[in-house]
Amino acid sequence: MKPYALLILLLVFFNCKNESSKHIETSDESYKIETKINNILSKMTLEEKIGQTNLRGTSSRVKGELPEELKTAVRKGEIGAFLNVMNLEYVKELQKIAIEESPNGIPLIFARDVIHGFKTIFPIPLGLAASWDAEIAKKSSEIAAFEASSAGIRWTFAPMLDIARDSRWGRIAESPGEDPYLASILGKAYVEGFQSDDLSNPTSMAACAKHYIGYGAAIGGRDYNTVNLSEPLLRNLYLPPFQSSIDAGAATVMSSFNEVNGIPATGNEFLLKQVLRDELQFDGFIVSDWDSTVEMITHGFARDEKHVAELSAIAGLDMEMTSKAYEHHLKTLVEEGKVSVKQIDAFVKNILRIKLRLNLFEQPYIPEGHTGNLYAEAHLSEAKKAAIKSTVLLKNDAILPLANTAKVAVIGPLANKPHEQLGTWTFDGEKKHTVTPTDAFKKANVKFQFAEGLTHSRDRTNKGFNEAIRIAKNADVIVFFGGEEAILSGEAHSRANIDLPGAQEQLLKELAKTGKPIVLVIMAGRPITIANIIDDVDAVLMAWHPGTMGGEALHDIIFGLSQPEGHLPVSWPKTAGQLPYFYNHKNTGRPAEADQFVQMDSIPIAAWQSSLGNDSHYLDVGYAPHFPFGYGLTYTDFKYENITVSQDTISFNKDITIKASITNTGKNDGKELVQLYVQDVVGSITRPIRELKRFKHVNLKSGETKEVSFTMSSEDLKFVNSKLINAAEEGVFNVWIAPHAEAGLKSSFYLKE
Ligand code: GLC
Repeated sequence: MKPYALLILLLVFFNCKNESSKHIETSDESYKIETKINNILSKMTLEEKIGQTNLRGTSSRVKGELPEELKTAVRKGEIGAFLNVMNLEYVKELQKIAIEESPNGIPLIFARDVIHGFKTIFPIPLGLAASWDAEIAKKSSEIAAFEASSAGIRWTFAPMLDIARDSRWGRIAESPGEDPYLASILGKAYVEGFQSDDLSNPTSMAACAKHYIGYGAAIGGRDYNTVNLSEPLLRNLYLPPFQSSIDAGAATVMSSFNEVNGIPATGNEFLLKQVLRDELQFDGFIVSDWDSTVEMITHGFARDEKHVAELSAIAGLDMEMTSKAYEHHLKTLVEEGKVSVKQIDAFVKNILRIKLRLNLFEQPYIPEGHTGNLYAEAHLSEAKKAAIKSTVLLKNDAILPLANTAKVAVIGPLANKPHEQLGTWTFDGEKKHTVTPTDAFKKANVKFQFAEGLTHSRDRTNKGFNEAIRIAKNADVIVFFGGEEAILSGEAHSRANIDLPGAQEQLLKELAKTGKPIVLVIMAGRPITIANIIDDVDAVLMAWHPGTMGGEALHDIIFGLSQPEGHLPVSWPKTAGQLPYFYNHKNTGRPAEADQFVQMDSIPIAAWQSSLGNDSHYLDVGYAPHFPFGYGLTYTDFKYENITVSQDTISFNKDITIKASITNTGKNDGKELVQLYVQDVVGSITRPIRELKRFKHVNLKSGETKEVSFTMSSEDLKFVNSKLINAAEEGVFNVWIAPHAEAGLKSSFYLKE
């Protein structure tokens, strides 16, 4: 075979090996980068090395002259990265000083929280998770990187990968939901979108897998609160999304505020070194969260700032965000022999590795002419598509879609709130670009009248009720846009009661008295408990906070130009009292039945003391959620039939295929999210009653039937047991092909050693 033909074959072979188009650093490129790192390191003083570990926070609201102190610090090599420098001139000036005047010309990295869009805002991450669509997630982060990099931002603090099982927690809004399989797929997609297939691309951004780890398990859903996790639960539930994003090449990881089993994540050597470095082979750099280093004093884990620096360094934290324990004490700690130069060299190598992969030494400035195409039509249409795919239809008593001729009363505190619609962690999206529902209805010449009824989501007054009721009486149908203002979810914004805030329930009950059908559209950062009013409305759409194009997306869904495609990425509780609730729970010794439980009001007065009900439920609400994980309706119906498994018994590492027929029995064409769940019936530790293992979107014309099949192996059945062995175990496995976590066709197979 001719040499070049062999070369082409090898290139094809190596290319075929990469699942995605992600650039896999060749050994030659790695060698070059490591050589450059060592070369730079050899010229650096200890002070300059410590400078690289310093992520300086600034306020994007800084006006006027760039503070001289910052310029001097950069000039001396005392700062490695900046957060929130949102003035282009400042970015250029600071970078120029770093390149031309600092001791070794090491470029700065500029960072920002670009969480679900930069200028073009996409649905909040919990909404994007409801799309169950990796392509949508990847596209949203690709566009965010393209727009943000035009402002000099090459590092974003996303994706947030915290599994969230408690809707009281404000940051569930930023989370990928409650399931590790879905979260892992989304985490990989976000990293690929932010970083493109080559991080040296100047329109890409370094991703940051956060918050490592267990942040969503805070007691009571109270942000920043205590986390206790068994190691199997840590590894089976919270770690997979981080593993997936690191395997996808995530450049950085952020340690979380919370402690894990008594040791704050930021100073947790087991988590940062043994798990992240040694097991997950992470070779980027680890940054603390905002002041999370010095908060170890408040946690009661560090005596003082110097002790903070010592504990963080020993744990392997590479870069300190905003606080200055490293800046103030690392040099002394080295002189005292408490921290080694070798350890600091390791931090600097990790940081330089990412700066080199970002190609900042060769291209430290924003490319000429790179404008980011802010709010480009192509970006806005992707944001609209994402909002459509994220919206979940929870109830529809034959009222949606509306006819174009319908006379509509648009009511509610979120019908025309361009700022609120963008949701939490939206620093740079400008509300003047938001298309609200009333904007979209006007643009589409819908026949409607508009009365807010309430001025904002927390409004408890009823002074707007009469006008709302008046226009309702004149309409064929009411579309009520309710939910939460953006500030009621996100960081530090947990709620103990997650009903509709303010007087929204009261207004809905008054509107229901008009006898007009009501479509409730919820914009919120979390599932909202609607048990009190579900019977007063005829349809419910969950739009999350849908972003810049949410209004158009909702118009198209409400009038049938598009179908709602979302499915719940979190279980939706009847009441906050049920939380934390999650579908992949254990069976317990006395499992409750969804609807067979002792109703509190049915208990006889002066009842004789007994273990009434005898199973794990609440006397007042039972145990089932209001809507289960994976749930979402469309404008048609689907029937599941004939589940089969390719073998009744499989051996390890052999594939098994599970199939079923899905028929669209409705009058509209539609798309079904077909889910595969598995139960490991008996394990060396108890196993969840169901675990999501596969899913696929299936398009079906009205009346059409398709066979849907999933293939998996014992690799998919592995779990970490109490001996910390990650393996599948022999035994019976139940499988479901299902429309959500509480239904589906069931079969089983035996996994044999
Ligand atoms: C915040 C958040 C973190 C964010 C960081 C920088 O406190 O916890 O998610 O990336 O600070 O803004």
